[in-house]
Amino acid sequence: MDAKQLKKKFLEFFKEKGHAVIPSASLIPEHDPTVLFTTAGMHPLVPYLMGQPHPLGKKLADVQKCIRTGDIDAVGDSSHLTFFEMLGNWSLGDYFKKEAIAWSLEFLTSRKWLGIDKKKISVTCFAGDKDAPKDSEAASYWKERGIPEERIFFLPKADNWWGPAGQTGPCGPDTEMFIDTGKEKCGQHCKPGCGCGKYFEVWNDVFMQYNKTADGKFVPLAQKNVDTGMGVERTIAMLQGKKSVFETESFIPILEAIRKRSPNKDWHEENMRSLRIIADHLRAAVFILGDENKVVPSNVDQGYILRRFIRRSIRHGLQLKIKSDFCAAAAQSIISHNQEMWPELGQNHLFIIEEIQKEEQKFRNTLEKGLRRFEALEKGKAISAQEAFLMFQSFGFPIELTQELAKEKNISVDAEGFSKEFEKHQQLSRAGAEKRFKGGLADHSEQATKLHTATHLLNEALKLVLGSRNIHQKGSNITPERLRFDFNFDRKLTDAEVREVERVVNEKIKEAIPVQRVEMSVEDAKKVGAEGVFEQKYEKIAGKVFVYSIGKFSKEICGGPHVSNTREIGSFKIVKEEGVAAGVRRIKGVVH
Ligand code: ALA
Repeated sequence: MDAKQLKKKFLEFFKEKGHAVIPSASLIPEHDPTVLFTTAGMHPLVPYLMGQPHPLGKKLADVQKCIRTGDIDAVGDSSHLTFFEMLGNWSLGDYFKKEAIAWSLEFLTSRKWLGIDKKKISVTCFAGDKDAPKDSEAASYWKERGIPEERIFFLPKADNWWGPAGQTGPCGPDTEMFIDTGKEKCGQHCKPGCGCGKYFEVWNDVFMQYNKTADGKFVPLAQKNVDTGMGVERTIAMLQGKKSVFETESFIPILEAIRKRSPNKDWHEENMRSLRIIADHLRAAVFILGDENKVVPSNVDQGYILRRFIRRSIRHGLQLKIKSDFCAAAAQSIISHNQEMWPELGQNHLFIIEEIQKEEQKFRNTLEKGLRRFEALEKGKAISAQEAFLMFQSFGFPIELTQELAKEKNISVDAEGFSKEFEKHQQLSRAGAEKRFKGGLADHSEQATKLHTATHLLNEALKLVLGSRNIHQKGSNITPERLRFDFNFDRKLTDAEVREVERVVNEKIKEAIPVQRVEMSVEDAKKVGAEGVFEQKYEKIAGKVFVYSIGKFSKEICGGPHVSNTREIGSFKIVKEEGVAAGVRRIKGVVH
């Protein structure tokens, strides 16, 4: 079975069980200020896990694009990836533990589906602690379905609890399914959850029955949800009996495209690791650049991660003796291999290639000089904040790259001092970026809600002032501090235009217009002329969507949340207008 067949089977199975298939959300969360990337299918669904009705019902299934950077240093081994596809089924207050477990087992073991031998399956359940009781209920359903007690293990929160993705939000105990690979036990205590490779974790069913609050309490949710996750790449490797995700068809052509560029003849573990890092990182870079929300390499937020992916790839290219540009060619292979499943890669093909090329040229100009400079640092001595900062400022070495080089030589880097140096130069608040990683999931704070409604007003005001109905959203990102709105337009706005857009938005705020939400079919939404970046996604499925109207001024397909009257926004100000890519402009705005 290949990845394409696995995805198809999974969605077919859950369709048979009454689930609606929803499209993958963007990799760049649109209304969640606390995370840089979508790390799991739950991010875009948080409002629905908290009780807001989903237009497509209470049972959903999807293939979600995810990026996780937490384990970036482990990438290059057999299973860690930064970008991956995750299969999931969802119950939004519909079925719970009994059905979720029964269906998981059926999909894994039935001949019609994956046909895995039930005898090879072990499971883990939550052991219980001060926050929540032992999940004997989940264990009893496994037993009912024929998993014997000796293959049911109870593990603590560190293993069997999922979420919140940040500090607050929906979370709960989970039950994980493992396949015995047939390898010898690593020792007497070897059991599922042990990382030795004997037990392969295939699937995770999370029972989201709590909301973790800012003061650290676990409050039962009125609505009990199920959120499951199965990593496509890893599962395929297991089903094909491969030792590593890199030995599957998702990676073989990409590794080949990179290997072709290398004059290297002697392939051993160390340079194979570099090859795998490059394949993983460029794959993540391609998916970020191909996303519907525009991100380009930069020194902040998602742009910084993207820059690191590309620059680290180039540096590992040098380990393979690749001295000329190769990233665009590798990206091309990644696009060709994935565009059938992910059409946005084909649509944004030129943009992806161009941005990767630009970044590679920029970095290659200083890379060799930077490496020579690094070599010239006093041998064996820790790298000071000033030196690390010089590597960044003069040679474009992200701090993590300097740290990686230092680690290879067994020397340390004053990373903390570097951050201070960095802030002093006001180029990037690393502390700020890190806080966002650690932050809780969207609490839909009041300010973000105001900005969200202001975004709808802005979208319409731009059409009006610039005199074109063909202006549409190309990306949106909201933090409690500001809104960021990308749209297609081929030149810089004049100052007068910017002020006029601002004036129109403020006029609508002053008019105190009620904001209304109506549920309707995609077809009706189109008929009433609703603006919709989500339209394309929802078109694939005949379901209902929400249309938010602001009087007669604006109508948009959207998941919310919004203020109930425009007067709540206060006043709106545009703080920046700039270009982000050919034909795409970006506005940053604030409300007071
Ligand atoms: N959200 C859960 C996970 O990512 C399913 O494992």
